[in-house]
Formats: sequence, C-alpha cells, structure tokens
Amino acid sequence: MVKRLFQELRNDFEKIHTPFYYYDTVLLAETLESIKKEADKIADCHIHYAVKACANPRILKQIQQAGFGADCVSGGEIKACIESGFPANEIVFAGVGKADWEIELALNAGIQYFNVESIPELEVIAEIAERMGKFADVSFRINPNVGAHTHANITTGLAENKFGIAMKDMVGTIRTCSQFKSIRFVGLHFHIGSQILKMDDFKALCLRVNELQDMLEAEGITEVKNINVGGGLGIDYQNPDENAVPDFKAYFQTYAKHLKLRLGQRLHFELGRAVVGQCGSLVTRCLYVKKTDSKQFVIADAGMTELLRPALYDAYHCIQNICSTAPEQTYDVVGPICESSDTFAKGRLLPETKRGDLLVIRSAGAYGETMSSQYNCRELPKSYTTEDFA
Ligand code: LLP
Repeated sequence: MVKRLFQELRNDFEKIHTPFYYYDTVLLAETLESIKKEADKIADCHIHYAVKACANPRILKQIQQAGFGADCVSGGEIKACIESGFPANEIVFAGVGKADWEIELALNAGIQYFNVESIPELEVIAEIAERMGKFADVSFRINPNVGAHTHANITTGLAENKFGIAMKDMVGTIRTCSQFKSIRFVGLHFHIGSQILKMDDFKALCLRVNELQDMLEAEGITEVKNINVGGGLGIDYQNPDENAVPDFKAYFQTYAKHLKLRLGQRLHFELGRAVVGQCGSLVTRCLYVKKTDSKQFVIADAGMTELLRPALYDAYHCIQNICSTAPEQTYDVVGPICESSDTFAKGRLLPETKRGDLLVIRSAGAYGETMSSQYNCRELPKSYTTEDFA
C-alpha cells in the first residue's frame, strides 16, 4: 500500500499540503469482500459498520454501497449515515447517553432498533415514542462481565465499566418493557471491547450469551429476535502489509462454532476497526530534525490533533519514511502540539530523515480522522482516496 501511495504521490509530493489522511479504497473493497464472504456462511447474519471508527463521507458511501448496515452512537452519526445513503432500517443506535433530540431523530428516521443501556433511558425512549405516536424497537445492552485482552481504556464488558445492564437484572428489565405501550423488546446486545486479537475472548462472550439465553428461557422469555455481539476484532498494527485484511474467517467461525442461536434468531455484528483500520494512513511531513545530547527528534507537521491514539492509549503505529533509503537511525517522532504526550513513537528506527521527507503513519483508518481535534486552533485534516491520485 505504501508502494502504491508513493507511486501516486511521486510527482506531486513537493506541492501537496500535509498532513492529510489517505484511504486506500482498493484495500477497503478487498476487506469488505472478505467480510461478506465469511459472514455469508452464517445464516441471517447482519453486519452494521461501527461508524465511530471512520465517518469520512467517501468511506461511508463505499461501505454503504457494499450493502452493510450501520451502528451509530450519536444523532450526528445517524445523520451522516442517512446522507451517505444507508437505509434507516439498517441502522442501530447505541450509547449510554442518548439525548432527547437524538431519540426523536432516530424515531423519525425509522431506525431498526435502539441498543438501550439503562432503565432510565428506556423510560425516556418510551415517553418520547408515545408522544410521537411511534413504536420504539429496543435491544438491551448487557454487560457480560467478560474481560478482553486489550488496553484498559477500550475494555467495555466488565462490571466496573459504565456500559450495559448487569446480566442478573436482565429478566426484570425485559419484563419492564410490557409496561410501555410504545416499546417492543427485540433483542440482546453485547460488546466486550476493541482491538481484540484472541479468539478465546469472543468464545467467552459466546458462552455468556448462551448462558443468558438459557436463563431467559427458564424464565419463559423465549421471544428474542436479535442477538447483537458488537464488534471488537483487532488489526495487526505491527505488520500492516503482511496482514492488510484481518482474519475474518477465524472471527466468524468462532461465533458459528460457539454461539447457540435459537431458531429464527438473527445475528448482528458491529465491526469498526477491522473494516477500515488498515485502509487509512496519516501522511505527514518532517518539519525539522532536532538533535539533543541524548536523542534526535523528527518533528512532524501532524500531531495528536490528527491522530490521538498514541497519546491516549500509548498505541503503536508503524511509521514509514517514503522519501529516504539512507541507513537507519533512531528517532523520537513527535508532533508540533504543546503537550509532551504529543509523541507518535519513541526510539523508532527510520531511514535517515531530513526536513521535507514524507512520513506515512500506518493503520490509522480507524479512530484516526474521527478523533481529530482543533486543539491549538489547528485545521481539521483533509483526506484523499486512491481515486484522487488515479
Ligand atoms: N459496538 C460498540 C457498542 C462499541 O462501543 C464499539 C467501539 C464498536 C461496536 C466497534 O468496535 P471495533 O470493532 O471498532 O473494535 N478509540 C479507540 C476504540 C474505541 C472503541 C469504542 N467502541 C481506539 O482508538 O482504539
């Protein structure tokens, strides 16, 4: 992919304004195909792309055209999806803090269902739906208390996390639905965390779902139309070229093997990172090389404002200098923002780097552009796709 990017930029890279996001839409198409191929092996399986990973309109459009639904967590995401052509009835809406206007927007649009995270939220949805003369289909997000082998900030399925309703409260919660004329209970929702590479974590989730289904059945709750297992499949940040397309086969097979679906139940996934992560790169230019007694810094024109993950999660991203083939040296790669955490990499080997060289920060398609900010009054990054250089 970097080779392709380099060929595309070669004639232009002196003039092109950096930093910017570059999306490889050829790789995205390949990734989407691979997901469809593996997911199609499971009956009645629905993929909702987790828009929070990347809401770039051109990327959304491509994902929509491939036939995916969407998983939204805000009114803004619902609007973006509708503008990109996603049918409203393929949109599911999650999040612990849905504002009244967002609930109204979702009901007016006619989304498929809400993933509800608490009883107070259920009460508000019921009240708004009743006032609007509509029915709200709701799934409950269950906190399965399953740990995932990932960064603490992106683990969501533990009892200590703010997400979901405890399993032990589920029977009571589902029964509460019958009190509201405007609410229809349509399913169960789970999500244990993100950047998960151990299939055993997903297996553990399957076993919890099975346990919960047995428990509900024993209580006479048998009408559970949808099982939504969230997203979470990770990508290989160390080897973006060797593993450009995640192992969707292993992922979907884990669910096919361990999840005991009831007759007629529909299975939903909400994949974000695995869909777009490897397709995006942040392209930045070296402004200065600064040497101190103990180190040398590459000071790039992108910083934590364009890609927050290293500062926030200590995340690793592969960095490539596409303008130099000189012998390698060791650098700290940092941005221009007035924060010490504005560091992309410490002690990283790069070919000798000079002012003006382009650096490509890989695997930045997910939670890159969407998490960018205007801190220090900076402009939001521009973006290009493969088509722009064709
Ligand atoms: N469904 C729910 C309910 C979620 O909370 C998330 C992600 C997803 C699906 C999609 O998960 P994925 O397939 O992308 O792992 N900013 C962090 C990741 C935060 C993930 C939040 N929830 C990062 O850069 O690593």
